[in-house]
Amino acid sequence: MNELLENDVITFFAGLSRQAPGDDRLSLSIMQGLQGMRPSSRIADFGCGTGSATLLLAEHFHPLIYAIDLAELFLDVLMVSAKKKNLDGFIQPKCADMGLTDELPSALDLIWCEGSAYIIGFASALKDWHGLLNPGGILVVSECVWLNPDPPSKTRDFWQAAYPAIGSEEDARELAESLGYEVLDSRTLPESAWQSYYREVETALESPEGLKLTPDFRDGMREEAKIYHGSESSYGYLFLILRKT
Ligand SMILES: C[S@@+](CC[C@H](N)C(=O)[O-])C[C@H]1O[C@@H](n2cnc3c(N)ncnc32)[C@H](O)[C@@H]1O
Repeated sequence: MNELLENDVITFFAGLSRQAPGDDRLSLSIMQGLQGMRPSSRIADFGCGTGSATLLLAEHFHPLIYAIDLAELFLDVLMVSAKKKNLDGFIQPKCADMGLTDELPSALDLIWCEGSAYIIGFASALKDWHGLLNPGGILVVSECVWLNPDPPSKTRDFWQAAYPAIGSEEDARELAESLGYEVLDSRTLPESAWQSYYREVETALESPEGLKLTPDFRDGMREEAKIYHGSESSYGYLFLILRKT
């Protein structure tokens, strides 16, 4: 990725309500099902972006949330939103690489990672973060998986090029179990979340600011949306709720 495209990506996504498909109702219902979190619990949101989940975590649990992301601009946007909601005292932003465990908070009771683990590799993320959790600690992590083993050929070709590691729900569960986690639950992001994400992306691409973005980036985003719309819901985000064993 060249520097111009990288800047475009950050600027573009900083203006969106989230940087990946997601659903506050689903996130909240997962949070409500988590047992044993207290105001003294140590919680982190890895690859938090502008913090749609960080804000919910702070609102729901009221401990200090470590918000980890490599993009300073996203963390700045997060803290402006947190201040507006009087939640800034509950959030500690940190510009760090979620793949470098020495830079990350440890002895955590909960790691939340939505739409980001694939960036360092799902398997590496599960392996590396195991050591950052307290005994019995919880990892809530989402991963893009095939929901249908026989997707349209265009969809399959796109994902095989974009993310060859994509597997099934069963693959993700087995991997987690083999790496020292118990699978407590799993949930699939509803299709409506993908629809509203791409609606926001497509509207932003046509805005005066969006029209100034590099053609490569605009074409890439449009292609991604088109692939989703033609995918017959054959892939989606799986949330795994894992406990360190
Ligand atoms: C697809 S976005 C998801 C953001 C957010 N969790 C959400 O669901 O809206 C991925 C995020 O990971 C961040 N990121 C990418 N590589 C990273 C790394 N190595 N360490 C920490 N954050 C990273 C990006 O800046 C971006 O905010």
